[in-house]
Amino acid sequence: MNQAGVQLRQHDLKRDALISLLQVIQEREGFLSREQMIEVGETLGLPISKVYGVATFYNQFRFFAPGKYHIQLCRGTACHVKGSLSVLETLQRAIKIEPNQTTPDGLFSLEVVACIGACGLAPVISINGEFHAGMNPEKIEKLIATLRKQEGK
Ligand code: FES
Repeated sequence: MNQAGVQLRQHDLKRDALISLLQVIQEREGFLSREQMIEVGETLGLPISKVYGVATFYNQFRFFAPGKYHIQLCRGTACHVKGSLSVLETLQRAIKIEPNQTTPDGLFSLEVVACIGACGLAPVISINGEFHAGMNPEKIEKLIATLRKQEGK
């Protein structure tokens, strides 16, 4: 292997190590904080901009602490056609946060995602990985109220 080949291989290995480390942290903490990304960069000799660039390239990484109920709302085409925007607007009004935020009490967090592979259930949301099919504004309001009641809030 020539010099350029060796450098390319080292670059690939560093990138693989970076992704693996970020996955381990996300699995342990539920998200990647700025401090953790700086630490990972220092460990691998990479600038924070590079770490952040790689992390944001992959949909699997989250940059905010998830709430007890992490809600992923699909805005893929099938869900959009069946009204996911009105579900999102109602949900945002109900829990008073924007996407990629967590409520101050830590109960809910919201993430808007692309197709989650359940188009037949559109519009669909996932709460902690569990799908809720055929959502509409009334259903999402009821669901949030039920969860709040369940938590005594
Ligand atoms: S578009 Fe929403 S699950 Fe596919």
